[in-house]
Amino acid sequence: MDLSGTFSRTSNSMKPSVIRALLKLVQQGDIISFAGGTPDADLFPTDLLAEISSRVIRENGRFSLQYGETVGWMPLREAVAAELNSKGIRCGSENILITTGSQQGIFLSGLVLLDPGDAVVVEEPSYLGGLQAYRNFSASFVPVPCGAEGLDPAALEEALAAAPSRPRMLYCIPTFQNPGGSTIPEARRPAILEVARRHGLVVVEDNPYGELNFSGGAIRPLKAFDEDGRVVYLGSFSKIGSPGMRLGWVCAAPEIIARMTMAKETTDVCTDVLSQAIAAEFLKGGHLARHVARLVSTYQGRRDAMLKAMDEFFPPEATYNRPQGGFFVWAGLPGGFNTVELFEKAIQAKVAYVVGSAFHTREGQGLNTLRLTFCTVDEAKIREGIRRLAGVFKEALQGEKV
Ligand SMILES: Cc1ncc(COP(=O)(O)O)c(C=O)c1O
Repeated sequence: MDLSGTFSRTSNSMKPSVIRALLKLVQQGDIISFAGGTPDADLFPTDLLAEISSRVIRENGRFSLQYGETVGWMPLREAVAAELNSKGIRCGSENILITTGSQQGIFLSGLVLLDPGDAVVVEEPSYLGGLQAYRNFSASFVPVPCGAEGLDPAALEEALAAAPSRPRMLYCIPTFQNPGGSTIPEARRPAILEVARRHGLVVVEDNPYGELNFSGGAIRPLKAFDEDGRVVYLGSFSKIGSPGMRLGWVCAAPEIIARMTMAKETTDVCTDVLSQAIAAEFLKGGHLARHVARLVSTYQGRRDAMLKAMDEFFPPEATYNRPQGGFFVWAGLPGGFNTVELFEKAIQAKVAYVVGSAFHTREGQGLNTLRLTFCTVDEAKIREGIRRLAGVFKEALQGEKV
């Protein structure tokens, strides 16, 4: 059958993720890859999860192996609400919807909050999976350029004033952003919400990295400052537990939770109940804090190793930030240099990164930028990988601009 003409406009507009395509390329054994965005599998709490899963199947299999309520397994909703209260978010289980990863939360937010063609304000650079999800709803984007301190209220205001149509939503990753590694200082967070309030924006706060905090000081989420229920908060078990369990959560006003639950019903009926039961036991058993402390100590060591190597080897023309948590360092070369073209040279030098242009809303933007992940590479390899990458950049800077 000739399938051209078969597919919907939405499907025709979808593009495969540049990053997934790239990850396949860099999985050759001798390449040091700073390209991934996955947690280090060696740090999964495997034994503990094996013990808990065996227990929840044996003792509670009638429920954990059954279909569940679309809104989520009540013990997990309660455990998530307790966890969020400890971060300064006032909520109860009625504010929580369990999702199949926070990616589903992003998708459902688009499904219930956007009409085709609506404008969404986004940080630039932003999470590719978020941009792709909102593109499914024919969203147009109003990008706000962000530096190491993330979204700035004045820049947000400026972008809104210049927007061709009135945006409906702000999608942001305020803490240890993917890809930028940026964090909005806590003191600036109420001002962001104030701008959103004045412009009637719903704020989708995506926070999968917030727990991975190397700074010692707590950083309260935007949602902790939300006084009128305009923030739809998305959390995830992927970076603090296991991404394979595909667990995320939404914390929002009950009316929004009800709409998203209705929308979820037709996408997957319910999130994997077994995963939910395991995660509920993990949280209720008090294992999260101990596990996160282990992740933080390892990832922080790797962040330090990466920055130290960059300080030592990178040419002075290169710029990079010093993230206080999460997975990523964001770097740049002077304007005119193209990290897409340099990628091939990096692969020849056996080192990989993700091109920064992938995280921009328009083609041809951010061509001189790149994202480096430190979380899956050991410290010695980080040093060697950065040395290799610096060699590629120095050669490009010494030669003509590529
Ligand atoms: C900013 C951001 N949001 C959402 C996700 C999706 O995560 P999940 O595994 O919870 O669907 C990711 C995954 O990398 C991410 O970086």
